[in-house]
Amino acid sequence: MNDNEKTNSPHINWYPGHMAKARRLMEEQLKLVDIIIELRDARIPAASANPILKELSRNKPVLIILNKADLSDEEANKAWKKEFEHCLIVDSLSENLTKKVTDEVKLILKDKLEKAKAKGIRKKVLRAMVVGIPNVGKSTFINNIVRKKVAKAENRPGVTKSLQWIRINEDVELLDTPGVLWPKLENQDDARLLALIGSINDDVLDKEDLVYFALNYLKEHYPGLLKKRYEIDESEDDLLEAIARKKLWLSSENEINREKAVDLLLKDIRSSRIGRICWQDVGE
Ligand code: G4P
Repeated sequence: MNDNEKTNSPHINWYPGHMAKARRLMEEQLKLVDIIIELRDARIPAASANPILKELSRNKPVLIILNKADLSDEEANKAWKKEFEHCLIVDSLSENLTKKVTDEVKLILKDKLEKAKAKGIRKKVLRAMVVGIPNVGKSTFINNIVRKKVAKAENRPGVTKSLQWIRINEDVELLDTPGVLWPKLENQDDARLLALIGSINDDVLDKEDLVYFALNYLKEHYPGLLKKRYEIDESEDDLLEAIARKKLWLSSENEINREKAVDLLLKDIRSSRIGRICWQDVGE
């Protein structure tokens, strides 16, 4: 029996054979750092976590970065931030992050810095490592804080090049390649959310099911949004059908073209043209 069958998750055979190796490698690398910077996707802050990072981090402080905050809703960003001990809301594409991140790292490690000072170490350089699931924005984030292009880690857990540190400023240095972790796929809900933001391939899931899930979620959590975007009556039983009819995504027999409707709606959802959406409630 494989892992997927045991946990009743969708049939994604996640990097077969690499898990144990990836885990060992990550564990080794994490031993070298003072702090872990874990990137999450602000649209799915819980589902974009890695299930075993807590165990691997061995009680090291973790700074959670809610990345792609520009794509999620502002109220939700603020609510989620409160859930974590250390957390920053971040847009790696347009913010300048060097000071914001290094100040936060120094604040979190204030005690460590003071202890080093008491021992006579005048200038301790803090070491950090960026980790996260594929496509969460690790390379973009690192390029932003180091202000130059660093190599993109291969998006497979366990595949990294040899260790090199990049000094960000006089206080903090960073491992130049991020650690790629596999996402949580223990249950169908997490997999669905990861597919919704385009983090995992959707051909492992029923795409129509995914769209219905998204439309019902939007109707419930963002009332009025679908009405505004597609000019439909949100109280319709079948929202997919209502949108497809309105947009004339029809076959020659005047039936709705399901495949087209599903693909176009998924595209709209993923590109965030539909609006800034957070797909997970705090506490879920
Ligand atoms: P990774 O190293 O974790 O795999 O992620 P990477 O930096 O390559 O970023 C993945 C995609 O996410 C990139 O889009 C990148 O521009 C985008 N991205 C990263 N941070 C942010 C952010 O804060 N806000 C927004 N809106 N986008 C962000 P891409 O190059 O278009 O790749 P893709 O969409 O084709 O995957």
